[in-house]
Amino acid sequence: MQTKTTFEKTLIGGIEVENRIFRSATHEGTATDWKISDRMLDMYRDLAEGDVGLIITGYFGFSKTDYHSKGTVVLSDDSSITGLEKLTETVHKHGSKIVTQINHAGSQLLSPPDGPVYGPSEVVDPFSGIMPVAFTESQINDLVTEFGDAAVMARKAGFDGVQIHGAHGYLLNKFLSPAYNKRTDDYGGTPIKNARIILEILKEIKLKCGKDYPVWIKLNSSDFHPTDEGLNEDDFLLIAKELSKNGIDAIEVSGGTLTGKHSPSRSKKHTAYHLGSAEKLAEDISVPVILVGGLRNIDTIDRIMAETKIAAISMSRPLIREPGLVKRWAAGYRQGAACIACNGCYNPNGTICFFELGDEEKAAQKEIMKFLRSLGKKS
Ligand SMILES: Cc1cc2nc3c(=O)[nH]c(=O)nc-3n(C[C@H](O)[C@H](O)[C@H](O)COP(=O)(O)O)c2cc1C
Ligand code: SF4
Repeated sequence: MQTKTTFEKTLIGGIEVENRIFRSATHEGTATDWKISDRMLDMYRDLAEGDVGLIITGYFGFSKTDYHSKGTVVLSDDSSITGLEKLTETVHKHGSKIVTQINHAGSQLLSPPDGPVYGPSEVVDPFSGIMPVAFTESQINDLVTEFGDAAVMARKAGFDGVQIHGAHGYLLNKFLSPAYNKRTDDYGGTPIKNARIILEILKEIKLKCGKDYPVWIKLNSSDFHPTDEGLNEDDFLLIAKELSKNGIDAIEVSGGTLTGKHSPSRSKKHTAYHLGSAEKLAEDISVPVILVGGLRNIDTIDRIMAETKIAAISMSRPLIREPGLVKRWAAGYRQGAACIACNGCYNPNGTICFFELGDEEKAAQKEIMKFLRSLGKKS
């Protein structure tokens, strides 16, 4: 195996990056009127100035059948383009790259909206309590078209690629999960049939944006579903392999849902918690694999880069607390990330580290953290 190092210029998933440390998608919750705000521009400038190799945006919405949570960016029409262009220019100016994550939330919503909520099948969402309406095949075709149009807008705005959100309990993850996909048509029944919608989305984006436009995906290595009915590691490996044969450019390996045995953002006692699954996948396919989850130490990251076929790692919370972390590590100040993985940054008023809040805001946020912990009996 050719030896890799963390801080080297390289090509990953069709994108040339300055190093192998990426920012994993982190929903900002700070868009204004569904568009890029100045607060968002500041956040991304800090990350790019902090020498993050590549930044994956928080999930952006786009679909007419979706309900967007407060502060989400929506790729809707040309009126969004100016802000999006400002965002990509800001990041590029500082030598970093930027991929936008495109997502349909499905039934994993904070509260029931007025109007139909869609899913692969009629199975209640344990987070929202919502019983979704099953998509018809013709609605699935429309959704595939919408994914393609969102990617066209991303390319036009200067994003280096798009990442399809296939993880964490949102719509596409629900299609992949046998616990939620009970379909008996072409879109359900086996791991590959469950993935059919994603294969169609991939094809559509490549058709509309050109086959060289990078299309990445974030996948669960396992849903860690409470009854073990959800997507498991064997399903994940099969699906990831199928996507790699069909032109996906990079796969980021995550896991868990908001109500499973494990959340995607686990507590401090868990480190590099998807390493085993990511290593297995990287041994199996030639498409680059990116590992996320509990990476807080540069010695560990260097070791993963040197000893495995994993192409890059990504972090979310450590870069909320310290946007300049990568630059610090590269400069030789190698102490671990300051983030304590308390999840106090899941803030309904916009993502911000708990330790940046004032006393009153901290008290309110503590209640939210208690609620989040109560959702699963888990880390
Ligand atoms: C505030 C917050 C928002 C997040 N938003 C997203 C998101 O929009 N899309 C996504 O795929 N993951 C999201 N995640 C999950 C992270 O990308 C990541 O998978 C998880 O936190 C584990 O990585 P970490 O240990 O480096 O934080 C979010 C995490 C946090 C803390
Ligand atoms: S709130 Fe907690 S988990 Fe989030 S960035 Fe700050 S220390 Fe890390």
